[in-house]
Amino acid sequence: MKSQLTHPVFKIISSCADEMNVPAYVIGGWVRDLILHRPCKDIDIVAIGSGIELAQKVAKQLGNKYHVNVYKNFGTAQIAYEDYDIEFVGARKESYRSESRNPIVEDGTLEDDQNRRDFTINALAISLNAKTYGELLDPFNGYKDMEDQIIRTPLNPDITFSDDPLRMMRAIRFATQLDYVIEEKSLESIARNKERIKIISKERVADELNKIILAPKPSIGFKLLFDTGLLHYIFPQMVLLQGVEIINGKSHKDNFYHTLEVLDNICKTTDDLWLRWAAILHDIAKPQTKRFEQDHGWTFHGHEDKGSRMVAKIFAELKLPLNEKMKYVQKLVLLHLRPIVLAKSEVTDSAIRRLLFEAGDDIDNLMKLCEADITSKNEYKVQKYLKNFELVREKLKEVEEKDNIRNWQPPVTGEDIMKTFNIPASREVGIIKNAIREAILDGVIPNEYEKAFQFMVEKGKELGLVKEL
Ligand code: CTP
Repeated sequence: MKSQLTHPVFKIISSCADEMNVPAYVIGGWVRDLILHRPCKDIDIVAIGSGIELAQKVAKQLGNKYHVNVYKNFGTAQIAYEDYDIEFVGARKESYRSESRNPIVEDGTLEDDQNRRDFTINALAISLNAKTYGELLDPFNGYKDMEDQIIRTPLNPDITFSDDPLRMMRAIRFATQLDYVIEEKSLESIARNKERIKIISKERVADELNKIILAPKPSIGFKLLFDTGLLHYIFPQMVLLQGVEIINGKSHKDNFYHTLEVLDNICKTTDDLWLRWAAILHDIAKPQTKRFEQDHGWTFHGHEDKGSRMVAKIFAELKLPLNEKMKYVQKLVLLHLRPIVLAKSEVTDSAIRRLLFEAGDDIDNLMKLCEADITSKNEYKVQKYLKNFELVREKLKEVEEKDNIRNWQPPVTGEDIMKTFNIPASREVGIIKNAIREAILDGVIPNEYEKAFQFMVEKGKELGLVKEL
C-alpha cells in the first residue's frame, strides 16, 4: 500500500500526526477505491486523538492558505485542498438511538471506529505514521471480500443496519455499482429490517436511489430493492408494475421486469439521470389503465397520458426536483408511444411535423427511449422495429431540414392577432393562435407569414371579430 500513498498531502498528515504523537489513518471509501482503482476525491482521516487539532496543524503546514471548517458538535474538521475534500475525525465508538440517526459519540480506538462502519470493504484503514506508513489494517477481511466481490457488514447485520438504516440502501447501491453480491445474512437482514427505512429522510433515500439509477446496470439494484421489500416503502408505484394476469389464456407482460429491461437498455446510450428516470416511469400507469377487452386482449389505453400526470406526485414524494427536469420526464412519458405509432404505420409529413413540434429539442432522447422500449424476445420483431425507427429518424431529419419545426413558433403572434382585430388578450386570441398552429402542422397552409395572416383573418371572420377589414 505504501507505494500508493503518493500524494504529498499524506506525507504532511503523517509528519503532523507524528509531531502530535497521535496515530492517524486514512480510512473508508478512499482506501476501498484505491484498491479498486476507482477515482476518489473524498479523503477520510481518523486520528486516535483530536481530529480537529490534527486538521489545524495540517492546514498550517500547507501554508495557511486553506481554511479549516470545524464542526465541534461532531468532532470533525474539513479542509478543501486542491480538488480533494479531506475530513478529519477522532476515532469513535458510536451507538445510535432507534428513533434518530444522530449517534451518541464517545472516543474510541481504531478498532471501535472500524467496527461501526457499514461494510467490510469500507472498513479498511492505512496507517500514516512514519513507523508503520502504508500498513493496511483490515480486521474484517475487506480485501478478500473485494476479491470475492461481496458486500458484508462487519458486525451482526441487524446491528449495523439498525444503527443506520440508510445502509440497507447503501448495500444495494454498492452491489449495483460494483456488480457485487450481498452476502446472505446481510441480505436477509435487509429484508427483516426494511421497515426501518422510514426513519431516513427522503432526500437521503433519493440520493442512494439516484446512484443506483446511474450505475451501469440499475436493474441489479431494483431487483434487490424489490426482493428485500425496500421498494415497497420507498417507491410503491413501481411495485404495482410487477405481476402477470391471465384471462382466457391470454397474459400480458410483467411490466416491472419490462421496465427494468428498458432502463438497462437506455443506460447503454445515456448517462442522463432524467432520461433514465423517464425509462423508469414510461409505463408507470399501466396498472391503473389495464383492461381486458374481448376483441383486443390486454390494453393499457391512455397509460402515457395518465403516467405523465403521475410524475409530479411521484417526484414530490421522492423529493426529486419539481423543476424543468420533472417537466422533461413528464414530456417523455407523455410522448413515449408516438414514434412507435409512426414506426408501425405509414409516416406522413404532418405526423412527423407534429411530433417534432411537441418534442422540440428532446426528440433525440425520445427516440432513444423508444428504441430502449423494444424488449421483445423475438429477434425478428426487434430488427423490424429498429429498422422502422431508422425510417422515422430519417423522416424526422428530412422534415426538420425542410420545415425547421423544432423549437418553432408560428409566424403570426398573439400580438399580431390583438392588433389586427383590435381586441384585448382573450379566449379568441388563443383559439385563432391554435388554429394557425394546427393548420401549419397539418400542412393545410405553408409555414409563411402571408398565408398565416390570411388564415388568421378568415378565422377572425368566423368568430365574428371582423365586420369589415
Ligand atoms: N459510512 C458508514 N455508514 C454510512 C455512511 C458512511 O459506515 N451510512 C462510512 C463508510 O466507511 C464509508 C465512509 O463512511 O466508506 C465514507 O462515507 P461516504 O463518503 O458517504 O461514502 P463512500 O463509501 O465514500 O462512497 P461514495 O463516495 O460513493 O458515497
